[in-house]
Amino acid sequence: MTAALVLASSSAKSTRQLAAVLAAVCRPGDVLLLSGDLGAGKTAFAQGFGRALGIEEPITSPTFTLVRQYEVVGGPEGIRTLLHADVYRLDHTAEIADLGLGQLVEDGGVALVEWGDAAEPVLGDGALSLWLVADPNDDDRRMITVAADGPAWADRWSALAVALEPWSMGK
Ligand SMILES: Nc1ncnc2c1ncn2[C@@H]1O[C@H](COP(=O)(O)OP(=O)(O)O)[C@@H](O)[C@H]1O
Ligand SMILES: [Mg+2]
Repeated sequence: MTAALVLASSSAKSTRQLAAVLAAVCRPGDVLLLSGDLGAGKTAFAQGFGRALGIEEPITSPTFTLVRQYEVVGGPEGIRTLLHADVYRLDHTAEIADLGLGQLVEDGGVALVEWGDAAEPVLGDGALSLWLVADPNDDDRRMITVAADGPAWADRWSALAVALEPWSMGK
């Protein structure tokens, strides 16, 4: 199954709220790949996602640390850690594999991977992919495409489509 939703966000706040909707349906082991140019809003998405999981620490770009870990208390059942990675500096999929995100999420984690398109070959199986694209005519607007491939999201997909309806293109 490959399913996709094409969404529009009109502000950074709206992108954070959209991320919160996704956080609410996440399960331990989920990997979300965030793709889009510098400034597209990948970190803004991560901030809304983390806040929705009850993380109070500021979530900043993990560029120099590669992977940041945040403890989750009171998130959706079984989620104990949020992993926030930025793989921009990694040239090879082998280096991305070395981060061990696949193993880390197995222990009650959910991972957000910025520049996730580079990680697709190693982490793509069952991941949710998001592409954020700026609007050349409106500084605050982003087109956000959400796509799932494989069974991990199939049983959540219709609920997700309903929950994301407010961002549906054309609204
Ligand atoms: N609709 C929007 N969604 C996300 N960010 C937006 C939006 N509109 C404006 N912005 C701004 O764009 C910038 C996105 O930066 P950031 O999230 O760090 O991008 P990235 O991590 O993709 O490089 C922020 O300054 C944010 O306030
Ligand atoms: Mg970023």
